[in-house]
Amino acid sequence: MTNSAGARSSLRHRMIMKRIGILNGGGDCPGLNAVTHGVVGAANTLGWEVVGFRDGFEGLLPPGDYKLLKRSKTQGILKLGGTILGTTNRGHFSSKQGAGETVGIERQLIEDAKKTIHQLGVEALIVVGGDGTLSTALQFQRAGVPVIGVPKTIDNDLQATAMTFGFDSAVSTVVDALDRLHTTAESHKRVMVVEVMGRHTGWIALFSGIGGGADIILIPEIPFHYSSIAKAIRKRESEGNHTTLVVVAEGAAPEGGHQSVESNEGAGEYRLGGIGDRVACEIERLTGKETRSCTLGHLQRGGSPTSWDRVLATRFGVKAVHLIRDGCFGHMVSYQSYQVGSVPIEEAVEKLKLVDPNGEVVGTARAVGISFGD
Ligand code: F6P
Repeated sequence: MTNSAGARSSLRHRMIMKRIGILNGGGDCPGLNAVTHGVVGAANTLGWEVVGFRDGFEGLLPPGDYKLLKRSKTQGILKLGGTILGTTNRGHFSSKQGAGETVGIERQLIEDAKKTIHQLGVEALIVVGGDGTLSTALQFQRAGVPVIGVPKTIDNDLQATAMTFGFDSAVSTVVDALDRLHTTAESHKRVMVVEVMGRHTGWIALFSGIGGGADIILIPEIPFHYSSIAKAIRKRESEGNHTTLVVVAEGAAPEGGHQSVESNEGAGEYRLGGIGDRVACEIERLTGKETRSCTLGHLQRGGSPTSWDRVLATRFGVKAVHLIRDGCFGHMVSYQSYQVGSVPIEEAVEKLKLVDPNGEVVGTARAVGISFGD
């Protein structure tokens, strides 16, 4: 380390933080409580207090909706699904609208939130969220609030981190469902179409499809043709396979077609949904095979985190506190090459992390005979 780097580093270590804040934003996912547990544990070890804001950024609006979190009060939450703090993916601070366009948060709202932060003596804020929440966090950072981001989402669609916590739990729930759906589909020699979440990316569909033994996987990154899906099913029939399991990501669409939007009411992003039913209808029409569709919906976000997500979330929470200790504000915790490090929040939110249609994972799926309907 150079002298000036050493001086900077020791200066950072001399910063004495008394109180930090934490909030969740966006849709919930398994592991949020494990992050809170990690943050409170690491902060208390340094002698700091933690204020937990309720319902995302909404809890910052005056007079503030918050609770003091202590290690004694967060014991046992590590394994719990949901979040003891609450969250929202709508409300005043939604920085993503419609099909995912970024919008600026009203300046006055941020100023009001800053008042709460200052009045409580909160010196830095840990924001746990996906791309929408972290885009809002960036606007707070630019308005002078020292912020650290923690990447959360079952969709795993954030750039600059190989994984978000919540993804493994969601995939594991889907794989469990596929195992069950397989048995009933086999009994009836049916086609079973399973719609999964993931918004504009196919990570959940791809990983759960491979793990759950799907025959066809449809993802937004690879536009599909109904005729190719029907062809793959007929081929399976001719080979004596009378059951086909199709996993379709909610954001998938046919070549030249549009995503299926379930609802575009209210603030925030459109809600995707309905593609599973459409695919099932078309399969039945084109192949004559009895076909059923099943939408897993919010089951994918519920329940306890897997052991992987518990550990990852704990590492993220502890790292977030250590980034505050080191004065690395405006950074997001990131998982790369088996290590937890950090990147500027800008890098994480500039665009979504998509599945590479020519990448190794898609190649693995194709190698074992999975069709992408292309
Ligand atoms: O981003 C997480 C996610 O579960 C997406 O996969 C899904 O499209 C969306 O949230 C559902 O949001 P809501 O909870 O508003 O229905």
